[in-house]
Amino acid sequence: MEKVLSGKIVAQSIFDRISRINLYNTIPTMALLSVCPSPASDFYIRNINRQGAKLGFAVKEFNLNEYTSLEDFIELIKTLNADKAYHGILIQKPFPVHISEDAVNLAVSPTKDIDGIHPENLGRIFLNLEGLFPSTAIAVMEVIKYYNIQTHGKHVVIIGRSPIVAKPLAGFLLQKNNHGNATVTITHSQSDNLETISSTADIIISAIGKPEFVTATFIKKDAVCIDVGINQIYRNGKQSYVGDFDYNSCFDKALAITPVPGGVGSVTTAVLFENLVKATLRQLDDKNC
Ligand SMILES: NC(=O)c1ccc[n+]([C@@H]2O[C@H](COP(=O)([O-])OP(=O)(O)OC[C@H]3O[C@@H](n4cnc5c(N)ncnc54)[C@H](OP(=O)(O)O)[C@@H]3O)[C@@H](O)[C@H]2O)c1
Repeated sequence: MEKVLSGKIVAQSIFDRISRINLYNTIPTMALLSVCPSPASDFYIRNINRQGAKLGFAVKEFNLNEYTSLEDFIELIKTLNADKAYHGILIQKPFPVHISEDAVNLAVSPTKDIDGIHPENLGRIFLNLEGLFPSTAIAVMEVIKYYNIQTHGKHVVIIGRSPIVAKPLAGFLLQKNNHGNATVTITHSQSDNLETISSTADIIISAIGKPEFVTATFIKKDAVCIDVGINQIYRNGKQSYVGDFDYNSCFDKALAITPVPGGVGSVTTAVLFENLVKATLRQLDDKNC
């Protein structure tokens, strides 16, 4: 296995897979909703537009504003759910305080839910049923599969317990299949002895959003380190991005490690478009039934 687990090559393999799919002359079309601009979400949106154009897919932006009421927001989602011109709906965070994330997640049709936020899709992961699942959690699994990282019987410690990354990932890793069968421990900000727990892991996955929090003392020799965190920092007057792992201190001790940038984040957008293709094909199937 390579020591540096580049996400770019994994993303390319997914884009190649997408390009081989017969879309029956349909252009997969995404509705991309955002309410409050933020540097991270602006960056992600630019990337989605760029990749969408490369694939020949359509991305239509709906830019709401911080004064949009919850009722108007939900109404727009319902309109998009019913509109056959849109195959997938992606909703960018952050939200203003009066917008309930739960209400938004519940409003998206599970069949157009390309970010895997609807409770039905999240539940399907734990029952090992088909569905549309969170892109970042799938992206981690794609890295595991591409580099043939053995999970069977291994202890995986996930740092973080968010419903969009950590919990679905735990569900995937617990499944009875070639890339599951792991013993999974989920930790969070209230966990005692985090360092001791993570240093027993064969694979450590961090999704907390704390720059360089996981240092060499958190990992055992030859652990695989998968970094989901993307943190903007300013160092020596310059802006840059680092992960949750302290890459330099972990590098020698780790068997392999994902870089930031160029790791899991690169894979997430590719997975999002694969989800859009899945949603499109399923809607075409339903139309032909
Ligand atoms: N690579 C990608 O494509 C991608 C996609 C999405 C997100 N991200 C990045 O991934 C990171 C996490 O995103 P998210 O949406 O999952 O975040 P989130 O919803 O804010 O959840 C963060 C989790 O980290 C836990 N946490 C915070 N500080 C901790 C600490 N000191 N020790 C242990 N656990 C701690 C929190 O615990 P509590 O529950 O106890 O508060 C929470 O469960 C962010 O950096 C985000 O930018 C990357």
